Amino acid sequence: MPVGIDDMAIYVPKLYIDYKDFAEARGIDPQKLEYGIGIKKMALADANQDPASMAANACMRLMKNNDLNPQDIGRIYVATESGLDESKAMNSFVIGMLEQVYGESTLEHAGGIECKFACVSGSYALYDNTNWIRAGESNDKAAIVIVSDIAKYDIGSAGEYTQGAGAVALLIKENPRLLSFDEKVTSTIIKNEYDFYRPIGKETPLVNGLYSNLLYLIQVRKALETYKEKAIKSGIIKLGNDESIIDHIDYISVHLPYRRMGEKALAYLLRHEWRHLSRWEDIISEIGTDEPLPKDPRGTIESILADTDFMKADEKFRREFMKTKHYKEIFDSKMSSSLQASAVIGNLYTASMYMGLRSLLEFEFLKGVDLFNKRIGFGSYGSGCSAMVFSGVIQENYKDLVKRMNLEKDIGQRTKISIKDYEILHKNTRKYDEAFLNAEDEFILINIGGTTADRAGFREYCYAS
Ligand code: COA
Repeated sequence: MPVGIDDMAIYVPKLYIDYKDFAEARGIDPQKLEYGIGIKKMALADANQDPASMAANACMRLMKNNDLNPQDIGRIYVATESGLDESKAMNSFVIGMLEQVYGESTLEHAGGIECKFACVSGSYALYDNTNWIRAGESNDKAAIVIVSDIAKYDIGSAGEYTQGAGAVALLIKENPRLLSFDEKVTSTIIKNEYDFYRPIGKETPLVNGLYSNLLYLIQVRKALETYKEKAIKSGIIKLGNDESIIDHIDYISVHLPYRRMGEKALAYLLRHEWRHLSRWEDIISEIGTDEPLPKDPRGTIESILADTDFMKADEKFRREFMKTKHYKEIFDSKMSSSLQASAVIGNLYTASMYMGLRSLLEFEFLKGVDLFNKRIGFGSYGSGCSAMVFSGVIQENYKDLVKRMNLEKDIGQRTKISIKDYEILHKNTRKYDEAFLNAEDEFILINIGGTTADRAGFREYCYAS
């Protein structure tokens, strides 16, 4: 019995900042943002929006698009690293908002939790809910997994140009119309690390960006090794002589803190996969130099990062590798479509890989490619850290859903704000009743904290029609 993603819906706040304005304000070359990071517009949550309202908006769209009634849904999970409360789970806020529209207690049976593990938790939530259905526990109901986040970094930090905001809601069912997950291949890896973390009470993360980038690549590669063993054992992939697992995966969708990171992750994985294959000779002759080796190939991440000669040589080699015809062919055919949304929305933490999936489907469909039976490999990463590699196959009825995907239309008319206004929003000095935009047909935050002590910290929302 296939189980997987039946449909998906997105919600992206309409406010954004433009990369050229940002570059000018921070004294950065705009080319660095456009090409070095791969960002043109960063979505920003308005003063009356938060990760819970964005999650409820994505969920409501999913329910409306599919004529779902509360009784059709057995579980609602929210994965986020922008938690609003140390105890109260974000899905409870979402249930509260949805019940304002569908009626009191209409979703009381739809249990669930808020899941946290930086950007990878949505993938764990999907896996667990898929297995809930596979195990026959769902009583013919569907599960909804919502990934929702606001990526917010300190003003003036290197992370500031990798911000963004948005949510994706995924409908998980038997016999899905969009994508069926491959069974018995999902692979995870976990390690206690401090590459990116946000101590309790702190609104922005503490980040070791370059360390985090390398950790992401290593952990996804390790999870891919286990995936490979499982995929071969389960028989979904038969590896011939001189072949790489990536030859058998039609599309690759990875965690996207920013667009360029996707390109770099692909380069890293391909180098690892191809190094021992005959095509490597071609690649090396096209590049014109051998692949550099660190002084201590068995060293730690710290020792590799401290090996500055190697790091420089390796970066140079990687850039040359990314210009080779072998890399470009794989990038254009297997990854490029998944990166388009990232460039105009920015980082969505838990939601970024799923926005990438949505982007892949929409833009490959527009190219006129027949997507039926194509396998997508996913490389999900969360700092702290854990990676998950899994795959799924696009189903016969995908066209009915993909043909109505339209990123521009689904985001809606966007409003650019000045860097000065962005900085005001960033400082949280603008209150929920001082939003820049008038909300229409969506949930918004209308109050925080009641007038009496027993309502301290209460968050109240309404559906603005
Ligand atoms: N024109 C074009 N490209 C330029 C440029 C210019 N004028 N100046 C720099 N660049 C390129 C660099 O060459 C580099 O490209 P490369 O990746 O191909 O090497 C890229 O811009 C990034 O610049 P760099 O100086 O290497 O990094 P940074 O100090 O700007 O930091 C991050 C980048 C991602 C580490 C930082 O934004 C960050 O910490 N982000 C938050 C954490 C994160 O996203 N982690 C990811 C793992 S989950």
